[in-house]
Amino acid sequence: MTMNDTFLKACRGESTDYTPIWMMRQAGRYLPEYQKVRGKVTFLELCKSPELCVEVTLQPIDIFNMDAAILFCDILIPMEAMGLTLEFHEGRGPVFPNVVRDQNALDKLIVPDPDETMGFVMETIRLLRRELKVPLIGFAGAPFTCATYLIEGGSSKVFWETKKMMFTAPELFHGLMEKITRCTISYLLAQARAGAQALQLFDSWAGILAPTDFQEYALPYVERIIGELQQTGLPIIYFANNGATLLEYSARSGADVIGLDWRINIGDAIKRVGNKAVQGNIDPFALLLPKEKLRQRIRNLLEDARDAKGHIFNLGHGIHQFTPPDQAKIAVDAVHELSQRS
Ligand code: CP3
Repeated sequence: MTMNDTFLKACRGESTDYTPIWMMRQAGRYLPEYQKVRGKVTFLELCKSPELCVEVTLQPIDIFNMDAAILFCDILIPMEAMGLTLEFHEGRGPVFPNVVRDQNALDKLIVPDPDETMGFVMETIRLLRRELKVPLIGFAGAPFTCATYLIEGGSSKVFWETKKMMFTAPELFHGLMEKITRCTISYLLAQARAGAQALQLFDSWAGILAPTDFQEYALPYVERIIGELQQTGLPIIYFANNGATLLEYSARSGADVIGLDWRINIGDAIKRVGNKAVQGNIDPFALLLPKEKLRQRIRNLLEDARDAKGHIFNLGHGIHQFTPPDQAKIAVDAVHELSQRS
């Protein structure tokens, strides 16, 4: 089976015939094909069923011709393996009924053996590798983002409890980050052993931190994870959402590829991250533009990214659940066509 390795080449900064594209959350609710599978099971049941995970992971590859697949799972699955109860409530998202806000709760968290507790993830990866003709991205949440969910008990807008812990109980906060970090390292190493071909760390909430706090409370753990993952030889992608003010620091994380949200011009970002590949960064809502305007925006973005060491086209964050799939198709085709170099 011949493998389309354009994505991996771009991650490594090697020249490619065209700019590869995939979309964060490409397997998800905007696809009727996903809804059909999801209609039969809960989200957590889906995450724990390797056959169904394979099916939904492959959907966007088959439908749109994406240049990379991302494992279907969730960043909060390892938090459940650490011993916490995880629920997904319709319309509210993830909920942890037992929050981690004191030493007692922290002491109860375990650093799980990923193969024993999350064997379904490794099985999904092994099955996918038999099917896929494009590279498979494994992933985890970055420790800060995971910690916010455990401390807040779910999604948040102001992150009061998280910052309260950082500033009034720093030892507790660092203790929690330490445990999540150890869990994440062994989890991602297990994904690599199972066959993942690149690894992405999602730091969805890094952008709520002042640069000085990002450096003190979040980045050291990201650096440690990436340092440990380097033994795999796989490209590592670090995506800090809302991270334009943190770019110089993110670039020092050790990642091979820096993910960019849409709030910054990609050319400006490339100048700031230096000799690194970048991934991004069209506004997910720009997929709603009429075809010609969308194509023009993509043409401009590709042009602005011309000096990148490598460029993987992506959205600046996950695709929104109400995006018409036809619009995603227009974007993928436009990137493939407009970036042709040979
Ligand atoms: O296609 C892919 O990108 C792979 C699968 C994937 C999911 N979640 C599936 C999912 C990935 C990579 C994630 C990452 C994830 N999960 C992040 C980081 C990226 C980001 O969006 O910032 C975060 C913060 C989570 C936590 C999470 N999971 C939330 C907040 C929610 C609910 C909010 C929402 O968007 O509905 C989820 C649920 C979730 N994860 C869904 C999917 C497809 C929807 C679940 C459903 O089918 O009802």
